[in-house]
Amino acid sequence: MIWIFYSHGITALIGPSGSGKTTYLRTLNRMHDMTANVKVEGEFLFHGKDIYSDSFDLVDLRKRIGMVFQQPTPFPFSIYENVAFGLRLGKKVPKRVLDQEVETALRQAGLWDEVKDRLNTNALGLSGGQQQRVSIARVLATKPDILLLDEPTSALDPISSRVVENSLLNLRDRYCLIIVTHNMQQAARISQRTAFFNEGRLVEIGKTRDIFLNPVEKETQDYVSGRFG
Ligand SMILES: Nc1ncnc2c1ncn2[C@@H]1O[C@H](COP(=O)(O)OP(=O)(O)O)[C@@H](O)[C@H]1O
Ligand SMILES: [Mg+2]
Repeated sequence: MIWIFYSHGITALIGPSGSGKTTYLRTLNRMHDMTANVKVEGEFLFHGKDIYSDSFDLVDLRKRIGMVFQQPTPFPFSIYENVAFGLRLGKKVPKRVLDQEVETALRQAGLWDEVKDRLNTNALGLSGGQQQRVSIARVLATKPDILLLDEPTSALDPISSRVVENSLLNLRDRYCLIIVTHNMQQAARISQRTAFFNEGRLVEIGKTRDIFLNPVEKETQDYVSGRFG
């Protein structure tokens, strides 16, 4: 089966708990490399090159395909240092450039206005939703093509969750976002394409509208109409 992610837009991965969404997502930037007894089959072509080929540099890969997790993961540093972190890896960047890139990433993550006057305060003092947007800004700072997000709002309260969702909506014209969510309303609100997983298999993928209103597979129909999961 060939599955294409377009360079812009949001693909939602939905399915019951334990259906393999996270496992699949993690194959897309080789997060399983460090896990024993894992066998990955198939190819993932990124700009025409299989990311599992030996010639792919892992650090470079993870800058270009970034990952955001369920729990916000700021480091116990300042907001500024969190976002600058990936930019500093392995090279010296002039302060002026760094300032600019940190600002751009925070703007894209929809957080700049809230934190611009306290960039040097500890990121751990922010609310959950703000911390999650710091995590997103940190990934954006390295200028990825793809953002992988594993239930990025499920640890947040509904208001913060909406704010983060809106930030993702603002990113979808510029980035390829692949987002695991167990919240079907969220998938319907933000994604253009949806993939339904069940029992470790990709059952069906298509336009979000079609998956919710007119799926091909009965299994998908049963899930989106709330018959299981
Ligand atoms: N295709 C697969 N082959 C083998 N094991 C799988 C596969 N997909 C998922 N699993 C296993 O099933 C469990 C749940 O998968 P996970 O990806 O965490 O589900 P989800 O994120 O949908 O809740 C994990 O222990 C994982 O190792
Ligand atoms: Mg999961």
